Amino acid sequence: MKRIKIKEILKKEAAGQEVLVKGWVRTKRISKNVSFIALNDGSTIRNLQVVADVNDFEEALLKEINTGASLAVTGTLMESSGSGQEVELTAKKIELLGPADPDKYPIQPKKHSLEFLRENAHLRFRTNTFSAIFRIRHAMAYAIHDYFNRKGFYYLHTPIITGSDAEGAGQMFRVTTLDMDNLPRTEENKVDYSGDFFGRPTNLTVSGQLEGELGALALGEIYTFGPTFRAENSNTTRHLAEFWMIEPEMAFYDLTDNMDLAEDFLKFLIRYALENCMDDLLFLAGRLKEEEKGKPQDQQSMDLIEKLKFVAENDFVRLTYTEAIDILKNSNHYKKKKFQFPVEWGVDLQSEHERYLVEKHFKKPVILINYPLEIKAFYMKQNDDGKTVAAMDVLFPQIGEIIGGSQREENYDKLLSRMKEMHIPDEEMWWYMDTRRFGTVVHSGFGLGFERFILFITGMGNIRDVIAFPRTPRNAEF
Ligand code: 4AD
Ligand code: MG
Repeated sequence: MKRIKIKEILKKEAAGQEVLVKGWVRTKRISKNVSFIALNDGSTIRNLQVVADVNDFEEALLKEINTGASLAVTGTLMESSGSGQEVELTAKKIELLGPADPDKYPIQPKKHSLEFLRENAHLRFRTNTFSAIFRIRHAMAYAIHDYFNRKGFYYLHTPIITGSDAEGAGQMFRVTTLDMDNLPRTEENKVDYSGDFFGRPTNLTVSGQLEGELGALALGEIYTFGPTFRAENSNTTRHLAEFWMIEPEMAFYDLTDNMDLAEDFLKFLIRYALENCMDDLLFLAGRLKEEEKGKPQDQQSMDLIEKLKFVAENDFVRLTYTEAIDILKNSNHYKKKKFQFPVEWGVDLQSEHERYLVEKHFKKPVILINYPLEIKAFYMKQNDDGKTVAAMDVLFPQIGEIIGGSQREENYDKLLSRMKEMHIPDEEMWWYMDTRRFGTVVHSGFGLGFERFILFITGMGNIRDVIAFPRTPRNAEF
């Protein structure tokens, strides 16, 4: 008999049918000579209830059916008398595939803390919370490709090992095959990379943007979706050393076109989740409610589903950095000295400022544009005021910055002078500069942090819980 997934069974409600299911035991309880086994196979958050008459099975077998064990069950689907499910499976044959010693199996049928589950990341997929998160993560990755494919964007695979620092921030992981215990030296006693694998220093990429621009300036509209790496020592709930980024890059788009695309893209993804992941979202919404029960009313967040609908259905607020600084300076929050970091024209906004604007002031997602030139990357389009660049950050509730992007400087001379000012080695970036020398055009793009977006969709609070195996400072287990 061919195995059928639990999701299919629950969708079709085919009572009377004979089926074979395989999965892992979530719980087991015995009452009046009947054993009730909740079986989950990962295809849905919902379990299939397996009903086994204890007289029909060996006691030794029934004893081995514990939380975490894997089973193959053949039986007949029956209309369920219990509440919460349409069908249950009356077992005829149960095969124990892999036992799980109840004294040693870490994931017990009780509430585990997220910290505990992070330490058991290899098994945490077996909980409702994490299976829901990773099913949603999959659906969002699929929806991203669907969105861009429909719009005629090409998926470009930009390199993971690079010789350039796209963001110019210098927070990169070196890639080398040199012998660390015996490094070759130049006459000036610097490390000699000429004998290294690539014959030059290389790093893991912080962004696929620069190569993405090369693609866009021929293919028109491209996007990248890959891992990016940042060696910043940030131990926050929003930073990873290895995270995934989606970076669309579009020829002939100015900053307004860029904002329009970012807003439409985010709303499409949220709608996709609402249309395709409702079972998992409802579970996570319930989980969030439970977690916030103890908090005072004004600190509780909006219901997850309501929040997603709200963001999908309302226009984002758009304003300049300068206007945002004015709002922050005139706020009671500022006057009462409640911000930890300074608010002054020219400073980089901190997440406390971003969240104030989104959660307290506008109560909507915000797109901030035209940031001071000094705090942004070299490639951003210089505005006529000589002080700002055509940058855009999209700010979301609970998260702060979820997207960073800009119109790009397409003028060769302006770009070169900015690179010199910022000590970016322009000779090494001759290939990037060439796009401004030959057939340059207005173009724009942005980067969406995939995990930050998954935090928003799932309502989770820590970025370590929305990537399968998080990489953070001093942490690369699994
Ligand atoms: O603002 P960032 O640094 O922009 C870029 O890298 C541009 N090259 C993007 C572009 O224009 N093509 O990063 C973009 C987004 C941020 O808004 C944030 O969501 C996410 O990437 N991000 C991180 N996510 C998790 N951990 C980190 N350490 C992150 N750093 C950035
Ligand atoms: Mg940024």
